[in-house]
Amino acid sequence: MTSILGISAFYHDSAAALIVDGRIVSAAQEERFTRRKHDPDFPAQAIAYCLREARLEPKDLDYVAFYEKPLLKFDRLLETYFAFAPAGLASFRQAMPVWLRNKLYMRRKLKTELRGAKQAKFIFTEHHESHAASAFFPSPFDEAAILTIDGVGEWSTATLGMGEGNRIQLLREMKFPHSLGLRYSAFTYYCGFKVTSGEYKLMGLAPYGKPQFTDLIRKHLLDLRPDGSFRMDMAYFNYCQGLTMTNERFHRLFGGPPRSPELPIEQRHMDLAASIQVVAEEIIMSMARELHRLTGKKNVVLAGGVALNCVANGRLLREGPFSNLWIQPAAGDAGGALGAALFAWHQLLEKPRQTGQSDSQSGSFLGPQFSDKEIENALTLRDLPSQRFEDEAALLKLVVDAMSDGKVVGWFQGRMEFGPRALGARSILGDARNPAMQSVMNLKIKYRESFRPFAPCILRERAADYFDIQPETESPYMLLVAPLLKEHRLPLSEAQGNTMAHDPDLRQRVNIPRSGVPAITHVDYSARIQTVDEARHGRLYRLLKMFDQHTGCPMLVNTSFNVRGEPIVCTPQDALKCFLATDMDLVVLGDFVVDKKQMAHLPSAAEKAEHLAAFQPD
Ligand SMILES: [Fe+2]
Repeated sequence: MTSILGISAFYHDSAAALIVDGRIVSAAQEERFTRRKHDPDFPAQAIAYCLREARLEPKDLDYVAFYEKPLLKFDRLLETYFAFAPAGLASFRQAMPVWLRNKLYMRRKLKTELRGAKQAKFIFTEHHESHAASAFFPSPFDEAAILTIDGVGEWSTATLGMGEGNRIQLLREMKFPHSLGLRYSAFTYYCGFKVTSGEYKLMGLAPYGKPQFTDLIRKHLLDLRPDGSFRMDMAYFNYCQGLTMTNERFHRLFGGPPRSPELPIEQRHMDLAASIQVVAEEIIMSMARELHRLTGKKNVVLAGGVALNCVANGRLLREGPFSNLWIQPAAGDAGGALGAALFAWHQLLEKPRQTGQSDSQSGSFLGPQFSDKEIENALTLRDLPSQRFEDEAALLKLVVDAMSDGKVVGWFQGRMEFGPRALGARSILGDARNPAMQSVMNLKIKYRESFRPFAPCILRERAADYFDIQPETESPYMLLVAPLLKEHRLPLSEAQGNTMAHDPDLRQRVNIPRSGVPAITHVDYSARIQTVDEARHGRLYRLLKMFDQHTGCPMLVNTSFNVRGEPIVCTPQDALKCFLATDMDLVVLGDFVVDKKQMAHLPSAAEKAEHLAAFQPD
């Protein structure tokens, strides 16, 4: 038996993954255990969980694979700072102690933290190798082209490669500072959102805008070449030498200083979001064309933070040049832990790889699960009245009725998801047809204001009835955006059209029903879809099936089980805490249901506020 532990740490979203004889046994992000979002520290608890799942101890490990080469990265930092000295000195001084402490001595740190792993050999893979391995090895394809794009690894910011059988090969790379990820982040920063977590918001803002800055971006910021590579004019950016992403020259070009987060979003910001989205898609499409020319493969696999740009993914699938697409659900750096471990097994140990009908990611349900006993204990601890259902059909019927009635339901089932999305194991569900659902879920459950609609989960076999996708397309990881079919769109009245075009409050715009499923329909009629099938999703599939039978609607709103700024819940205790701190009506944990209606004492406003105060808004 060979056990390999993969680790990503010390940058953003630390994680661990364990593979035993090539099978992915467990994977989880550290934030879920420490309850600190995007926790970058050494993933001690995630590692402990991964080993526990396989009933192993550190001494049983044969290999520990770390997702990047610390010295290569240190080298890039030094070179960058020297190239920009003395302008870069301030940020150099600020960044260096952290780097010295965590990165340069990473090998030593890993060994101390894992001192129990006495037999294990330590392996360091390159950052983009880890991403590429995480994209190809778990995919259902024997052969595929590989595209990885993110902010920055050691030196590479994007790589084109291919995988065949049990081997991957990187063919081309783009190097720092020319980076699609960092440029997208620069616009994220400029539009007043948080870098590395606000990119989603920028993508969600794009449908409100017109892409009228694309020419300006192409002319000044970017030299895009026919082979998909590009150079950026670094005179407009500040991320090499400073502590911000953009500089004065950038601000002059786009007509003002960066938006500070508390100021309103103006049309200019929406147009910028639309413009950078168009340019990002252009770059991704031209990289894909070049990759297709280089490899001649009909399949493509994606990873790296930019692979979470679901709008670009949807376009790539619709417009080619590839016929099939698979995306690593933990596309960001957390997935690097899985990639590093798989790289060690297939590429370094030369172990064969088998592909089948499905991928080997198991729906990305790779985290901890909890027994009935553990759930019962958590309920007793909080003294909550609950009902236990032996009969699944009766449980599902109760949930279907509650949701049709406008209730919001916490849904806690089986193993926790690996990756940033809730996929039906730690989710909050509601009726997508309900016109109030978008604002209820945002204000009363998430405690945030949002101009973005929610994402739907939909029966796989019914997805093409609603969205412009091929009947065989699946999106089990919620990584594709697709347009709602014309026959489901509602015409707007003149007044609604006016609101849609001009209302400065974007929530007024998003709340105008544009379809029979308004909670999940964006202002441009797009939706980020998760297809649900019985093999991967079990009980969630059966819930959707029953909801469809009763209402004729095969989809539900599926959002993550948390409040704003909180990592997705992991344990039954986390779930109950979050349930009590919000206006969620019901929570279903395994076979147990807690209904707020049956509770004698509801939590006070002060108790709710206390939970919220533990987390920083994104
Ligand atoms: Fe990365």
